[in-house]
Amino acid sequence: MSSIDIEQRINSLTQELNSYNYQYYVLAQSQISDFDFDQKLKELEALEAQYPEYADPNSPTQRVGGDVTSKFETVKHRWPMLSLGNTYNQEDLRDFDQRVRKIIGDQFEYVCELKFDGLSISLTYQNGKLLKAVTRGDGTQGDLVTNNIKTIRSIPIHLKKGHYPDEFEIRGEIFMHKSAFLRLNAEREENEEQTYANPRNFAAGTIKLQDSAEVAKRPLDCFLYFLYCENRNKLFHNHWESLEAVKEWGFHVCEHTQKCETLTDVFSFIDYWDEKRHELSYEIDGIVIKVNDYGAQEELGFTAKNPRWAISYKFKAERVETQVKSISYQVGRTGAVTPVANLKPVSLAGTTVKRASLHNANEIARLGLHEGDTVFVEKGGEIIPKIIAVNEDKRLSNAIPYVYPSYCPECHTELVRQDGEAVHYCPNETGCPPQIVGKMQHFIGRKMMDIEGMGDETVETFYKKGILKNIVDIYGLQDHQDQLQSLERFGQKSIDNMLKGIEKSKEKPFEKLLFALGIRHVGETIAKKLAQHFKTIDAIKDASIEEIAAVQDIGIRIAESIHDYLNNEIHIAQIEQLKSYGLQFKIEEKEVILASNILADQTFLISGVFANYSREQLTALIESHGGKMVSSISAKLSYLVAGDKMGPSKLAKAEKLNIKMINENELVALIDNKTSI
Ligand code: IVH
Repeated sequence: MSSIDIEQRINSLTQELNSYNYQYYVLAQSQISDFDFDQKLKELEALEAQYPEYADPNSPTQRVGGDVTSKFETVKHRWPMLSLGNTYNQEDLRDFDQRVRKIIGDQFEYVCELKFDGLSISLTYQNGKLLKAVTRGDGTQGDLVTNNIKTIRSIPIHLKKGHYPDEFEIRGEIFMHKSAFLRLNAEREENEEQTYANPRNFAAGTIKLQDSAEVAKRPLDCFLYFLYCENRNKLFHNHWESLEAVKEWGFHVCEHTQKCETLTDVFSFIDYWDEKRHELSYEIDGIVIKVNDYGAQEELGFTAKNPRWAISYKFKAERVETQVKSISYQVGRTGAVTPVANLKPVSLAGTTVKRASLHNANEIARLGLHEGDTVFVEKGGEIIPKIIAVNEDKRLSNAIPYVYPSYCPECHTELVRQDGEAVHYCPNETGCPPQIVGKMQHFIGRKMMDIEGMGDETVETFYKKGILKNIVDIYGLQDHQDQLQSLERFGQKSIDNMLKGIEKSKEKPFEKLLFALGIRHVGETIAKKLAQHFKTIDAIKDASIEEIAAVQDIGIRIAESIHDYLNNEIHIAQIEQLKSYGLQFKIEEKEVILASNILADQTFLISGVFANYSREQLTALIESHGGKMVSSISAKLSYLVAGDKMGPSKLAKAEKLNIKMINENELVALIDNKTSI
């Protein structure tokens, strides 16, 4: 292909893919199969990799993320991001309406919109391309999160052709649909990762992630509701017109928006959505009422905090009363004990509520729960019911307060609670049945070792029969065929199938195995990050807590849990046994095609967080130029590539051994052979 052809192909694929994204994510219409879409995306990715000079920073390939930000830049808002005043009843709203009428008279209309329960975002476009995305922050300045925002498919990176200003700012709300929230939260619960209380927190937590590839995996959506630009009044007379126009430019605008001539119409809109809000696929927590006309908006102006031309009406959370029948204490596979209130079934916001999590001992103490108490249960915007308080007027005489158990309800071992942690744990990892069974069930799971022919029930049966006591025993099953054959409902074919599945699982890559071990707080993503960073289980075991915490998105609490697990005698022995069965405790070295041999015979260790490159990119760069990565510091190390947040012990060791320390730019310079360090 000639260079003109390549450029044209890149441009046409970019346009085509942007258009499919718009049709699918904004208009909810699918015009191409997933397979064909992926083929086109792959073609574009390959062309961009081969001809980076034609790659557009706003290409649809950016939707999958990949850029890592060590710290978000703080950016000042051109127009402050104000919040809205709140009203909670008709009277408050009448007062607002009176204030408006006093200033602009009676000839005006409102636009009523849903109040999306997410986080607000400001998007700036220049010449039809997304230039920057900034969070609200303190209203005056926020975080620059453009890379993360580019992964949201309903936000256009390139606008469709249209008459938009050269530069404008558009604001809206980022949110997560309820179904995605429930699915992802359930996955997190299964992995014993921290769950989120509601879709808003999940969306907010996601936008703050440093790794945009991780953001891309969590489906977010965005409704736009506000346009700012120079001379806006010359382009449009009112807010409604601006919404109609931005829809044409390719933005996702909520369809449930209505012009209201009278306050009575506003009240009908509010009442309608108060009842119907649970049928929406996303959460709303009220209605926003805006004066439509731009001239009138200008006349009304702003107070220090809020516009005078708009207000929000907040829905009351739906609340019912019911009785607590009992509290169950569930023991998870990592030993975490979760109290759950069993309730007298009650209907609330479209579902029957029978149980509500009490989270931990602090929550039971906060509520001051007594046996037989009547409680208020709420579902605000929230999908998950929450016990808000006890109705003390209905407390039974002589009711006994609930006391958090000191001993495990399953194995009667004394529970422990670490300093600063809210959760109680049963420490009897090797003797507590739900922990043993749970750990094995987790190990064989689809996203972990994915052992075919072995399911949760098989594990439970084998445990009860004494055939399996821990994950190592799974690999010894082949030597107990007679025992297996004696089991009812377990034919030779099933046994062979299972043993084949077990054998095959030995090939699972290190990151899956690391996840499968079931280390507390180590989910799929953390496992992947650990594997990519340290490369071998021994390197992780030998790393200090600080060194582990220097890996992106891993905090001290997670680092401590990893460190403790891998340095525990029982786990050391188990890992050695698993190694002897041939499981993959290190990353398989891939064959690399060398770009040059400039770093031959030099060894490198990467530590810390980097502003411009991910660790994976730096590793690939070093290896593709013949350098060798090592996992620990020794006197023989040629270079320590040092970023921010490096562990202090590693730093001290490097200084003591007089190791050359270089930053990411110096590494690139070293490869470019521009300088000798
Ligand atoms: S308009 C100048 N419209 O509610 C006011 N806000 O406290 C511009 N919100 O920070 C905001 N849905 O995050 C507007 N349809 C909607 C909204 C909405 C949700 C959020 C927004 C804002 C907060 C108001």
